[in-house]
Amino acid sequence: MSTSTRRTSDVRTVTVELDARELEWEFARGQAIRGFAYNGQVPGPLIEANVGDTIEVRLTNSLPQATTIHWHGIRVPAEMDGTEAVQPPVEPGQTFVYRFVVPDAGTFWYHSHTNETEQLERGLYGALVVRDADEPSFDGEQVLLFDDLKLDLDGHLAPFGDEHEHHAGREGDVRLVNGQQEPGLEIAGGTIERWRLVNAANSRFVRLSIGGRPFTIIATDGGLLAEPLRATEVLVTPGERFELAVGPFEDGEQLAVEALPYDRGKGETPCETFATLRVGPRGVSRAQIPSKLREIKPLVPASAEPTRTIDLKALMHAGHHQRADPVRVGDLQVWDLVNETGQDHPFHLHGFFFQVLQEEGKPLPVLAWKDTVNVPRKTRTLIAWLPDDRPGEWMYHCHILEHHAMGMMAHFAVIS
Ligand code: C2O
Ligand code: CU
Repeated sequence: MSTSTRRTSDVRTVTVELDARELEWEFARGQAIRGFAYNGQVPGPLIEANVGDTIEVRLTNSLPQATTIHWHGIRVPAEMDGTEAVQPPVEPGQTFVYRFVVPDAGTFWYHSHTNETEQLERGLYGALVVRDADEPSFDGEQVLLFDDLKLDLDGHLAPFGDEHEHHAGREGDVRLVNGQQEPGLEIAGGTIERWRLVNAANSRFVRLSIGGRPFTIIATDGGLLAEPLRATEVLVTPGERFELAVGPFEDGEQLAVEALPYDRGKGETPCETFATLRVGPRGVSRAQIPSKLREIKPLVPASAEPTRTIDLKALMHAGHHQRADPVRVGDLQVWDLVNETGQDHPFHLHGFFFQVLQEEGKPLPVLAWKDTVNVPRKTRTLIAWLPDDRPGEWMYHCHILEHHAMGMMAHFAVIS
């Protein structure tokens, strides 16, 4: 991996070379599939930066098919968003340079935005962490990308795109954390770590539990919450991120990092293990989580009238390349996401954060910035966002990749 940083006075540029190429992806001992990966590893290299840094990524495409990279959650200029609307795909043998400033602290991720259903399943994704000066301090940190693989009976990657997959999304029985099947994780006894979670799966929802123990949710897609939230589970849908304060545990304990049963409209899944957490010898804890994490001002009151209704059912059945009405820089958007389908859909807005005002008609317990939100079946979710001064072509879509591929998406322009 080649990640290098260069500091010229206060302005820092993080330079990354990403070579997308094929790889024998050994996801478990003695078990491999033909994967696609950045720099020969799944997930791709962790990109780390500080708020205000410039990131410069030189993508070389050594794959047998075209590709692009989307910087999920980063408020990039429109031209750097990696979609088909803003750049031609990078053909095999070609290179492309992405260059942008990272304005927000948080857990983000990057992934292919071309032939995604196959390219993400094969491993073309990685995490991007942006830090700020005065964040809460922890005893350690782990970045955990959740995924799954669908294999055929011979242990090869199952063929893509059967009818069922189109409708329900692709899910497999091999559950992965950081590219490995049900790995062992470790934490020192008595310590509290910051876990940065990313759901990089095509379709699989993860209702995460850590041995049923309480943890603290401190951040989501767009960084720290206004206040920490105690919980024993958190639903992480494709595309979403959560950050948890995990621990302290007693040395010698062993806990299952697992997904609890959840029904996203395809029947209830059983309890499924993703990893095992072993608690090692006791460490010293200096972790400190303040009771107020940051100031988040509500964009509008929770009872605000929608400026636009997005009918997810119509979107799902409309087919490719839809265009939604443009929005104007500075015009507050209140969107009512209405899901009358029989499935949950994680709605992702490119390039901008929104606040969730109401879920199923109820306001949320804590203010947060999101870029992906699950809209449970037969419910509606009200969101608000402000188009800041980054005009250009943007899009939103369902982050169940098979739904996106089927056309559950729309392009729209932000105009000045
Ligand atoms: Cu992570 Cu267009 O998506
Ligand atoms: Cu969907």
